[in-house]
Amino acid sequence: MAKKLSDETVTVLENKKINGKYYKLAFLSAALSKGVRPGQFLQVLINEGKDPYLRRPFSYYRVTGRRIEILYEVLGRGTAILSQKKKGDTLKVMGPLGNGFTVALGKKKRVLIAGGVGVPPLVFLAEKASVARLLIGTKSKLEVVPQRELKKVKTKVLYATEDGSCGFRGLVTALLEKVIMKEDPRELFLQTCGPRRMMEVVIALARKYGIEGEASWDETMACGVGACLGCMVKTKDGLRRACADGPVFRFEDLAL
Ligand SMILES: Cc1cc2nc3c(=O)[nH]c(=O)nc-3n(C[C@H](O)[C@H](O)[C@H](O)COP(=O)(O)OP(=O)(O)OC[C@H]3O[C@@H](n4cnc5c(N)ncnc54)[C@H](O)[C@@H]3O)c2cc1C
Ligand code: FES
Repeated sequence: MAKKLSDETVTVLENKKINGKYYKLAFLSAALSKGVRPGQFLQVLINEGKDPYLRRPFSYYRVTGRRIEILYEVLGRGTAILSQKKKGDTLKVMGPLGNGFTVALGKKKRVLIAGGVGVPPLVFLAEKASVARLLIGTKSKLEVVPQRELKKVKTKVLYATEDGSCGFRGLVTALLEKVIMKEDPRELFLQTCGPRRMMEVVIALARKYGIEGEASWDETMACGVGACLGCMVKTKDGLRRACADGPVFRFEDLAL
């Protein structure tokens, strides 16, 4: 059955900084919240007019009834403008887009590895599915998502910080290898979203230990609906559109 896509003007309910890194923006929409899977995303037109011209993609961070939240980092002009939006301002938002992560995994133990702008979809997944471990990597504790944001996550959250200010000192991929070594790799399933280099190392570890998994390959996007071919990902079956065929791909399908 074709997925139902909505494009509507929503009103900002709140938009606030929650730590040294992320802003959380909330709005209500019945259509945009219907049947959403963690890993799906929204295309947000930050301003009517031409600045910025293209919509920006953001993962669903949390859906509670009609309330939708996104969690975002200010990286450039679009997100800087977004961070200035106030309660009552409007945004044009299209979604749900993309395929999302696999939620039902049978008996496999799910381990999630998140970094940077990959944290929101994996926190959403950890609220919706049974998860053995959620690993979050940041540079320092200033960027760690506050504990109150993780209240609905029903698993142990392990942190890796590059400066050692919170949790394991080092890269989250080094922490992942420690976790893997304590388990039977055949029982694990890894799901990851974050910086490209992090995901490449996660996939290399999965190949080394024979673990299955999925990565959200968040290419820069223009249309977000499969029309412009600006977000192509190399897979073993040729080029695929991250927005429409992904953004979630199985490790074995990616041509790395
Ligand atoms: C499917 C998908 C889901 C996303 N979900 C989120 C989310 O939940 N929260 C969030 O904060 N961001 C998310 N992003 C990234 C977000 O779309 C970009 O940060 C945003 O478009 C930047 O817009 P800008 O105008 O501020 O910056 P631009 O001026 O467009 O870019 C500034 C810098 O931002 C960085 N950037 C741009 N696109 C990406 C990207 N895809 N990944 C990493 N860095 C990027 C680049 O380093 C670039 O130099 C997602 C991206 C995709 C494709
Ligand atoms: S962003 Fe246009 S095809 Fe993917």
